[in-house]
Amino acid sequence: MIQIASSDRVFILTGAGISAESGIPTFRGPGGLWRNHRVEEVASPIAWRRDPRFVWEFYSMRRRLAAAAKPNDGHIALAELEKRLQDRLFLCTQNVDSLHERAGAQRVIHMHGELFKSRCDSCDRPPFPDDRTYEPPAPVPCCECGGQIRPHICWFGEMPYRLDEIANALDRCSIFIAIGTSGVVEPAANFVAHTRGRARSYYVGPEEPANIAAFNECFSGKAGDLLPSLFQLE
Ligand code: OAD
Repeated sequence: MIQIASSDRVFILTGAGISAESGIPTFRGPGGLWRNHRVEEVASPIAWRRDPRFVWEFYSMRRRLAAAAKPNDGHIALAELEKRLQDRLFLCTQNVDSLHERAGAQRVIHMHGELFKSRCDSCDRPPFPDDRTYEPPAPVPCCECGGQIRPHICWFGEMPYRLDEIANALDRCSIFIAIGTSGVVEPAANFVAHTRGRARSYYVGPEEPANIAAFNECFSGKAGDLLPSLFQLE
């Protein structure tokens, strides 16, 4: 059990593992490859410059998969926790699906972008909702400025979003909980170390993450099994 007092501020970081029970494959586990490509080879500015159709084929597949998936008990438990803690919970996800929101969470921070948004790769038109798929032979969509429309995703080598808000929340939290993330992709892998000495830290997932040594305690199991009865609020 994780005891949450009325004075606590909770930072939750989720990764691909929380959506695994909804049928969305994780990146580094079994089934994590796409047509024999590592995700780093498809999710990058280099891949986009080389072959934007190939990149859209990958994200179109992911849009289809995510649209068909349903939130699981883990997402629902976190949405319920948000209802009770309100702005004392900072829910930050590395996931680009919208399963936290579809479970009812209202204030999700998507540090790696959102699958159902696109943006222009050339002008500063803001990201816009987009659930279409662009698979070859469909052309790569174009912006009015002549640029190409790309997925609103933080690719390898790009800067994650909303890092100022995240740093601020890490500074203020008294409890840090990571769920379903392998602890290898920076900067998220370093968040727990950032809170050391100030916050109690917990990991939830079936395997130890690479940064396990930085956590105070580990709850071993699936998010959907553990989260519904993990939190005890004062
Ligand atoms: P990974 O695929 O690296 O790790 C998924 C983690 O989820 C593993 O540690 C699994 O043990 C765990 N897991 C599997 N099933 C679970 C379950 N039912 N409940 C809880 N945990 C479970 O995914 P991430 O750490 O999220 O970045 O990957 C981080 C980033 O790397 C992603 O956001 C993505 C990727 O490349 C970008 O696209 C920028």
